[in-house]
Amino acid sequence: MRLWGGRFRAAKGRDPADDEGVADDAVAAFGRSIDVDAALAPDDLDGSIAHVRGLGRAGILTDAEVEALVGGLRDLRRDVDNGEIRWDPALEDVHLNLEAMLTERLGPVAGKLHTGRSRNDQVATDLRLWTRRAIDRVDGGLLAFEDALVGLAEREGDAVLPGSTHTQPAQPVLLGHHLLAYVEMAERDRSRLADARRRLNVSPLGSGALAGAGYPLDREATAHELGFDGVTANSIDAVGDRDFVVEVLAAVALGMVHLSRLAEEIAWWSNPRFGFVRVADAYSTGSSMLPNKRNPDPAELVRGRSARTIAALTAMLGILKGLPLGYQRDLQEDKPPLFGAVAAYEGSLGVLAGLISTLSVDRDAMATAAAEGYTTATTLADALVRRGVPFRSAHHVVGELVGRAERDGIAELSAMPPAVIEQLLAASDEAAARRLAAEPGIGATLLATATIESSLAAADVTGGTARARVADAIAAARARLEAVPR
Ligand code: ARG
Repeated sequence: MRLWGGRFRAAKGRDPADDEGVADDAVAAFGRSIDVDAALAPDDLDGSIAHVRGLGRAGILTDAEVEALVGGLRDLRRDVDNGEIRWDPALEDVHLNLEAMLTERLGPVAGKLHTGRSRNDQVATDLRLWTRRAIDRVDGGLLAFEDALVGLAEREGDAVLPGSTHTQPAQPVLLGHHLLAYVEMAERDRSRLADARRRLNVSPLGSGALAGAGYPLDREATAHELGFDGVTANSIDAVGDRDFVVEVLAAVALGMVHLSRLAEEIAWWSNPRFGFVRVADAYSTGSSMLPNKRNPDPAELVRGRSARTIAALTAMLGILKGLPLGYQRDLQEDKPPLFGAVAAYEGSLGVLAGLISTLSVDRDAMATAAAEGYTTATTLADALVRRGVPFRSAHHVVGELVGRAERDGIAELSAMPPAVIEQLLAASDEAAARRLAAEPGIGATLLATATIESSLAAADVTGGTARARVADAIAAARARLEAVPR
């Protein structure tokens, strides 16, 4: 029997006595969601158990009825957990499937389950419970990902690489510093999800179809039983609200964008032209045609899959933008983007955590590249500033020195003849620079500061790449990870 069949007549050519035949087959197939929403089954059953207990407390069901229904729902819950349920596509969605199974097992008492409830507040409740579970799993995935980043930072974090701006060599930075940037991003991602979790954790049960259930239900008690922090305050809002889906999708899309940026760097770094890292065999693939190939496919797939999560966010916003208040069937379209985006994120976190923890680093290749592109120029300019030259003039003198080095084919500023910088200072229209040029041996003294090590040492501020700062930051990140209850 269709659970909403009472007021309908059979489709043309069907036996009117046959309740199964109310809607046209193609229309039924069009509206069917069981393939997707079967994932809500554990949440649907938990919600039903709490609802039945609430009906009992309100005196709407007898103790015996409550016991029978809760027993039947618990059995179903166990069968769901064991994967022993066969979903009937004729029954549209997970809610109707489970109620029909309960009827099959318990008989007419199952007909009392849906008292004071609509699928509208039911699905809103289920989806909040599902999303809460998903956030907790994703949080574990983010922590494991951070653990892999911090582990690599502990192993190889003191290697030096060329930090870049505009995709061009800028200043040397420590690998640990670079990796901890991703840890910061992951921590913000965790906090965004935790924030969404806090806001979504209220129970819509008792809102009914839209006006509020027509029974004296203690909504707070039922909410408490389901681990919610409270109840929704407005029944119309409660059945039509999917803001929490948007919030979670926004957090997931941004989190995936972060993973995609890391994936992009891994793809370049593992290119032999860079040669900074080698992706382990287990995370590399070959080519069907080119015997020489060693491809970072998992990283590329993370980068590509991030697109799905961005699409999911825009899909959900698109679903909501034209909806009048209350439940509209459009809302059934919330699940494919939400489930798909969460699955993409969990899978990507897992594969990147493995890839990062098995990554080998070529410290020499990184260090060689860190010295290319005159990356110590700023440190040299700062040395002039410390000796009284205004920064703009110091910038100009060092810029001229870089130009000379380039023309003379000298790869590093520290290898320039000291006389050149002395001449440049002497020719400056800045008096302080000319005075400095007169100091004996000043050229060699200044050039000695233009090394990778003094460049690193100079960035001795909170959040900077000085060796001791990064060592402290790695230790702090490790301590923070260890303090998270898991
Ligand atoms: N399958 C529906 C959904 O996911 C459940 C609620 C249906 N409610 C209704 N009145 N048809 O949104």
